[in-house]
Amino acid sequence: MPFVIAIDGPAASGKGTIARAISDHFGFHHLDTGLLYRATGAKGGDPVEAARSLTAEDLARPDLRSAEAGQAASRIAAIADVRAALVDFQHRFALREPGAVLDGRDIGTVICPQAPVKLYVVASDEVRAARRAQELNADPAEMLVQLRERDRRDSERAAAPLRPADDAVIIDTSNMDIDEAVATAIAAVERVRG
Ligand code: DC
Repeated sequence: MPFVIAIDGPAASGKGTIARAISDHFGFHHLDTGLLYRATGAKGGDPVEAARSLTAEDLARPDLRSAEAGQAASRIAAIADVRAALVDFQHRFALREPGAVLDGRDIGTVICPQAPVKLYVVASDEVRAARRAQELNADPAEMLVQLRERDRRDSERAAAPLRPADDAVIIDTSNMDIDEAVATAIAAVERVRG
């Protein structure tokens, strides 16, 4: 079986950066599952139909990283049939040799509960808002409001809510720079992989 690393956490916690860096480090494939939800939300129309008919082109849209696309993604991500439509793609990705890193909200709990390594990446609300504001050249106070709203929706929904798996390693990146966060994640993987 290929090796799977599941990484979950709230918006702007650093999970995407960690996922990219450890997939490079171990030579694994990387799937940012948030993009599936962002592309579904951006497509418009019936969200279940949009999720079922996602194409590579939909995933390559240049506007998917915006705060608006994030909010739209969070809204359609609460629909159980949307989530169900995206499961197969994620499962197939997780079977890619020699291994795969998937990051999102429900990878360790729902999509890949058998993953030998599960990381749950967190950071304080203020730190996350400051990071996102810098990335998007936006106002930190406005980002704070938006992040909290999105986290609340993602954690309180009935379908695959954001939460750590029981056996997840929690990494708090509030006081870490990128190198430290990545080194902590690599060490957690190596403890399992040997
Ligand atoms: O990781 P992101 O910010 O790109 O995710 C955008 C939204 O998509 C997030 O607010 C909730 C949803 N999402 C999800 O419900 N499950 C995932 N595995 C990934 C993202």
